[in-house]
Amino acid sequence: MAAVFSLVLVIAAVVFVVVAAGVVYSLARYRSRGLSIIEPRQIFGSRKLELLWTVIPLAIVTGLFIVTVHAMVVIDAPQDSSRPPDLVITGHQWWWEVRYPNGVVVPWDIYIPTSRRLLARIESADVIHDFWAPNLARKMDAVPRRPAYIWLEADTPGAYAGTCSEFCGAQHAWMRFRVIAEPEQDFEAWLKIEARATPDDAPAADGRLFIEKCGQCHATVARAQSSGKGPSLAGLMTRETLGGGILRNTPENLMLWLTNPQAAKPGNRMPNTPLTAEERRALLGYLESLR
Ligand code: CUA
Repeated sequence: MAAVFSLVLVIAAVVFVVVAAGVVYSLARYRSRGLSIIEPRQIFGSRKLELLWTVIPLAIVTGLFIVTVHAMVVIDAPQDSSRPPDLVITGHQWWWEVRYPNGVVVPWDIYIPTSRRLLARIESADVIHDFWAPNLARKMDAVPRRPAYIWLEADTPGAYAGTCSEFCGAQHAWMRFRVIAEPEQDFEAWLKIEARATPDDAPAADGRLFIEKCGQCHATVARAQSSGKGPSLAGLMTRETLGGGILRNTPENLMLWLTNPQAAKPGNRMPNTPLTAEERRALLGYLESLR
């Protein structure tokens, strides 16, 4: 793609120099000298000139078109799903969810191995979103019932910022995510641990309260089937932010979310759930155990 950019730049520069030189020449040659205005020779209907300024631009544009289409074929992921994707990324109002081939489902943070080109399928659960991790991949719209594919690749380990880039409702601005790129072994180890976790790993009493109050929408392990309603809370304590980046992940903000989610992120799909102060404290303790 860089080569295409350079090519376009060089051609555009040549065209600019030719046009600018013509303008400067005309200015100097035909400028008015004193009061006597001499009109230059007027030419109408020169077939040679007409052909010249039609054929040359047409040839340039056609050439650039062919080169660009070729570059698109090289850099774009195949859109026909002939190869199973390495991860499926789904946009929701207003959060992202990732599904791996071994059944692990996690929201917000997208874990990937470094130095490998991954085929990612982009989907939407509701309205049109746009997946955008500027350092790692091109933008791609997430359109309901019309999955699309992109290549996702990180050369060096690290956390890469991403966001939704298509207006999708009131909290569009807070639909951020991180792509966490890890060396292959670390990533595989993480994936294995997540795949092994079962709901039984949850601590007894608080876990039961969680299932009763929150379990209809939220899972706590990455293996569980997505409810399609709320994001899984697996690994909650490893996240930097809550609600797509709107709040930092602190105990106070978690408590705010438990007490009044609509105040924390107006319009989000989580209803205010009636909870006693004691239940809120117990749930907060339970949430803080989700690593
Ligand atoms: Cu999703 Cu904007």
